[in-house]
Amino acid sequence: MKKFILLALVAITISSCSKVDYKDPNAPIEKRVESLLSQMTLEEKVGQMNQFCGVVHVSNMDKKAQADNQDAQGYYPGINADTLRKWTKQGLIGSYLHVLTPEEANELQHLAMESRLGIPLILGIDAIHGNCLAPDNTSYPTSIGQACSFDTEMAYKIARQTAKEMRAMNMHWTFNPNIDVARDARWGRVGETFGEDPYLVGQMGLALIEGYQGDMQGGDDVLACAKHLIAGSQSINGGNSVATDVSERTLHEIFLPPYELAVRSGKVGTLMMAHNEINGVPCHSSKWLMEDVMRKDYGFDGFIVSDWMDIERLHSRHETASSRKEAFYQSIMAGMDMHMHGIYWNEEVVELVKEGRIPMSRIDASVRRILTAKFRLGLFENPYCDIEEGKKVRMCEEHRATALEAARNSIVLVKNNGILPLDTKKYKRVLVTGINSDDQNIMGDWSAPQQPENITTILEGLREVAPKTEFVFVNQGDTPKRMKQENVDKAARIARTTDLNIVVAGETSLRVRKGFKTCGENQDRATIDLYGLQKDLVRKVAASGKPTILVVVTGRPNSLVWEDENLPAILYAWEPGMLGGKAIAEILYGEVNPSAKLAITIPRHEGQIQMYYNQKKSIKRYRLVDMSTKPLYEFGYGLSYTTYEYSDLQLSKSEIAPNENIEASVTIKNTGAREGVEIAQLYIRDCISDVTRPVKELKGFERVALKAGESKRITFTLTPEHLRYYNLEMERVVEPGTFQVMVGGSSRNKDLLTAEFEVKK
Ligand code: BGC
Repeated sequence: MKKFILLALVAITISSCSKVDYKDPNAPIEKRVESLLSQMTLEEKVGQMNQFCGVVHVSNMDKKAQADNQDAQGYYPGINADTLRKWTKQGLIGSYLHVLTPEEANELQHLAMESRLGIPLILGIDAIHGNCLAPDNTSYPTSIGQACSFDTEMAYKIARQTAKEMRAMNMHWTFNPNIDVARDARWGRVGETFGEDPYLVGQMGLALIEGYQGDMQGGDDVLACAKHLIAGSQSINGGNSVATDVSERTLHEIFLPPYELAVRSGKVGTLMMAHNEINGVPCHSSKWLMEDVMRKDYGFDGFIVSDWMDIERLHSRHETASSRKEAFYQSIMAGMDMHMHGIYWNEEVVELVKEGRIPMSRIDASVRRILTAKFRLGLFENPYCDIEEGKKVRMCEEHRATALEAARNSIVLVKNNGILPLDTKKYKRVLVTGINSDDQNIMGDWSAPQQPENITTILEGLREVAPKTEFVFVNQGDTPKRMKQENVDKAARIARTTDLNIVVAGETSLRVRKGFKTCGENQDRATIDLYGLQKDLVRKVAASGKPTILVVVTGRPNSLVWEDENLPAILYAWEPGMLGGKAIAEILYGEVNPSAKLAITIPRHEGQIQMYYNQKKSIKRYRLVDMSTKPLYEFGYGLSYTTYEYSDLQLSKSEIAPNENIEASVTIKNTGAREGVEIAQLYIRDCISDVTRPVKELKGFERVALKAGESKRITFTLTPEHLRYYNLEMERVVEPGTFQVMVGGSSRNKDLLTAEFEVKK
């Protein structure tokens, strides 16, 4: 009888589905998905779960790269672009990445729309700080700089504009935000993150997700992808893809919170697993991570994509799968939905289903999620872009203005003995030198070179902002790996003839500089000071006796101990994007008052790693016999050309119940002579707890604009969510007892006012 009812139900479902035309835009998405799914062959379903590199990428591949390193280049032995075109037309490919022009995007989409069921492709791209991996798009500051602005509204705006530029090129899915919590400056990908604090990372990530995805009604929205799960940023020795071994507690307290926020409130559309293993289990076969935490606990309902060929690496790298096919099996059964990228997947996964190892229902679950995303993006109705119309959107004036504003807000002034802002009357002849002075490297990783006329390099910015100053440029090339001693010596000679010197040093992370990069993906370092001859350059130029200012263009914290002790001013510019040169010049010459604060601690030395502000309280026992235990610059720290005073910190109550909110109000006064924006920060400290807590934790921040002499009273609200932590039983609770609230302009104790309240039993 039971069987009969079940069969009847299935029949009813099928017949009601078949009544719905999946091409009908007015039908509900769930019904369209079921109708389409019911008409798909196994091969078509498995194809939807597979992604390939674009046909131009595949045809352009450098032959040597194919022979040397197939995995990193996306080389498919025996397969050419025409095979991919054929498979697309047969409906056997669900997605592409590395498609970089709207012409190619439209061409591939046409082929997909000609397939038996006409299922559009979803085209993914690493639009990390703008869609600038593709030409003629806006390049905004990289994520670490964005985080230093503590400006979630700006992050939202950047993401919204990026989504528009993507759709203008027929791209629908960005592999961003990267909400890894950065904890090791040696790791090359720090610049791609929002720094070291889980709360800040979560807030920035959420703002981006909301910006990318909009209302997800199609049009100019794109899917976001929160990545990478999990904790690859704290791998052994900071190596990208290397094993991570962290406690379950650290995962829940530090690395998972931004994902939890993204999934629960941001409704992020997709997630990407990380290259690394976590506590002995590769992330790509972790059922705990994909099913238990993400889907069951957090309620994730989008689809999960693998990172670049990492499913294969269960076999070839981690050796936890006896064959590639076994690796596909393990990953799918652990919860994976889409394979980035390549051959063998289609036939081997089809075999696994036919052999009865993977149930059809498991495949259907993944395909359902992928199709739902395609319907939500409106791809069935709008599979193509209008290339000419798109040109009006890409890198338009409004987007470039945002890029410039974001750069201004992201540059951190870490040292100034009063020399800045520069006096044009005093410094008439200025030397500009260093690898990043006149170079597109200001755009950082995940950016292709852009047309020179669309970039303002630092040298160009200086000339624009101070047209009467004579800037003498000594070229040091574009990477510290290729610097020449003779050029260093030349700069040192000229430095003696100028009034002031500006050295622009740091790292090279622009993607095209293969073999010459020092930062970015797969560019991990053992040391974190200035690479190569750059140290020599700074010292020799400074030895001229003329004031020497350092501008650091970098995607990781560089330790600058000598520089801090010996130079009058240092600007941490991070990778400020295509108009970053102008923003830097505006700050140096005082047209813009710097406001950014560090979203990551700058250690004095790599031996201090792990160096972050929210250490456990036993950090007070940290003693080094050979150097200070203090970092060079603290989290939340950054200077301005004005000064701010905090006073009168008041709490709305002295006692609260565990489920109550409490407010903290403070007055901030601009005590200097010019207007500025102060980034006020609120930290808490749980005084006595069953399980150890950090010395302080950021739980609120606000950008406060203040005219000279102006005061404002601001209020932060602390909710139970801010006070909660994982107790001995790993339950998330607000524990009774005393909490300290600290408010001020950095994480340094001396910059914070303190008040206390009690949580009652
Ligand atoms: C990176 C991902 C990126 C993917 C596609 C991988 O190597 O780890 O972050 O999205 O490549 O480019």
